[in-house]
Amino acid sequence: MTNTHQTVPTSTVLVSGATGRVGRLLVNELLAAGHQVRALTRDPARAALPPEAELVEGSLNQLPAGVFDGIDAAFVFPTDGAGAFAQQAAAHGVLRLVLLSSLAAAADHARDHGSASQLRHTVIEQDVRATGVAWTILRPGTFANNLLSWAHPIRYTAGVRGPYPTSAQAPIHEADVAAAAAAVLTKPGHENQIYALTGPEALTRVEQLDAIGTALGRELTFADQTPDEFAVEMAQYGVGDDIVKMLLDYWADTVDEPDVPRPPNHLIGRPAKTLTEWAHDHIADFQ
Ligand SMILES: NC(=O)c1ccc[n+]([C@@H]2O[C@H](COP(=O)([O-])OP(=O)(O)OC[C@H]3O[C@@H](n4cnc5c(N)ncnc54)[C@H](OP(=O)(O)O)[C@@H]3O)[C@@H](O)[C@H]2O)c1
Repeated sequence: MTNTHQTVPTSTVLVSGATGRVGRLLVNELLAAGHQVRALTRDPARAALPPEAELVEGSLNQLPAGVFDGIDAAFVFPTDGAGAFAQQAAAHGVLRLVLLSSLAAAADHARDHGSASQLRHTVIEQDVRATGVAWTILRPGTFANNLLSWAHPIRYTAGVRGPYPTSAQAPIHEADVAAAAAAVLTKPGHENQIYALTGPEALTRVEQLDAIGTALGRELTFADQTPDEFAVEMAQYGVGDDIVKMLLDYWADTVDEPDVPRPPNHLIGRPAKTLTEWAHDHIADFQ
């Protein structure tokens, strides 16, 4: 039987997307567990990563020479060049690849078929699987960090406006995505596995706002908006029609069929963080 909690003796891990919200927590997790980290960033001077991490300047589609030297495992951030990055990792003898994908790639719901997220992540999943290297695919559902789009109205007004206030989702804390990634990058038993990851509870959008309000010690109001009003507002902020459609389809569906929570407790060895914990961790973003 595979022991999923047995740590491989220290690994050297290449982290792409290392300065992102997930990436920097992943770097911290790996260092804390005694692994060596090489962090890929387009701007090392602004990376602000721990000094124990080795910084290399580049992007997934512009890789510096020698970036894979001595690397056991690599975290693939799903952006332009991810497929070529995975191919080159394989060619340079990297033993395992862990891809940050999306639950949309599972295409479990009609709304996912042809959605912006499903299209983008499915292609990258296929590229990673085609390398022939042991892979693990993480498919998180909606990130709690998406609620940071409420930061501005919460800072300056009495609450937020939005459609489908009674729809219910299970947002995941970025720390849990990072902890799951660290586990599958460094422990055996996850080869060629796909893991869906969500937060521990489905909460209506009003309850999500309440969690933030409770952390801030404020009562926040959720003003209902029609889907058309939302689309017009998003267009003003330059959000693409495909993204707006994806959001509206998701919220419309989850009124009658809330997200089914699939927290990654089995991967991270602790309960997944609640939205209340996320809100406390992000108080500064809302003040
Ligand atoms: N939002 C959701 O609900 C959701 C759900 C499921 C999956 N996801 C996936 O998660 C991703 C977001 O993760 P996150 O929040 O950690 O990202 P993030 O905070 O936006 O950070 C992305 C990092 O990736 C790096 N980056 C961007 N473009 C790059 C490129 N071309 N080459 C190399 N590095 C590049 C940047 O680092 P440097 O500037 O330092 O190079 C940036 O710090 C989404 O794009 C999506 O694929 C999101």
